[in-house]
Amino acid sequence: MKVALIVAMDREGGIGKNNDLMWHLPSDMRFFKEKTAGQIVVMGRKNYDSIPEKYRPLPNRENVILTRNSSFEAENCQVFNSMEACLEHYKNETDRIVFIIGGGEIYRQALELNCVEEMFITHVDKVYDAETFFPKFDESKWAVTEIASHEMDDKHEAGYRIMNYRRSC
Ligand SMILES: NC(=O)c1ccc[n+]([C@@H]2O[C@H](COP(=O)([O-])OP(=O)(O)OC[C@H]3O[C@@H](n4cnc5c(N)ncnc54)[C@H](OP(=O)(O)O)[C@@H]3O)[C@@H](O)[C@H]2O)c1
Repeated sequence: MKVALIVAMDREGGIGKNNDLMWHLPSDMRFFKEKTAGQIVVMGRKNYDSIPEKYRPLPNRENVILTRNSSFEAENCQVFNSMEACLEHYKNETDRIVFIIGGGEIYRQALELNCVEEMFITHVDKVYDAETFFPKFDESKWAVTEIASHEMDDKHEAGYRIMNYRRSC
């Protein structure tokens, strides 16, 4: 099983507000879609709720929702009541990557469990008034390379850089 993580954050590590994203960056959304296509995406129940009904479950991916509510159901989604149960379920997965796709609580737990091998972080070059943040992490433990960048333009309210982080120890 390979576990990866994908997130977009502002200059202060902000990732969301009012259970929603704070920006509209179509080419970064496309990157997310391409990167996670065909894979397993693991999300918190609040993140799932934040996706407009017509877009969920996210197509062409196995959608996994974490909730502590044992009676929670969502059509065509896998539901687990703990991160550990979820990772145990996919431990023998060899074909697909388990992508942690947030939100804040789920990112924090995945990083605490030390199970994430690779991260794709979009650094949005702007400060938003976020309520939910990506957890602080020790950058010295990761080998970082830039894989894409985009300038601000009429379709992109802010510039951004996409960085790949590979755990180095
Ligand atoms: N910028 C980005 O890349 C990005 C990506 C994703 C999300 N977001 C944003 O992040 C925000 C949501 O993040 P959040 O931290 O509020 O919520 P979240 O992490 O999406 O979901 C939290 C919920 O997950 C469930 N949960 C958490 N830990 C669990 C565990 N160990 N076992 C079982 N269930 C568990 C609980 O659901 P129950 O309450 O049902 O028990 C909890 O209330 C939104 O604003 C969203 O737009 C941003």
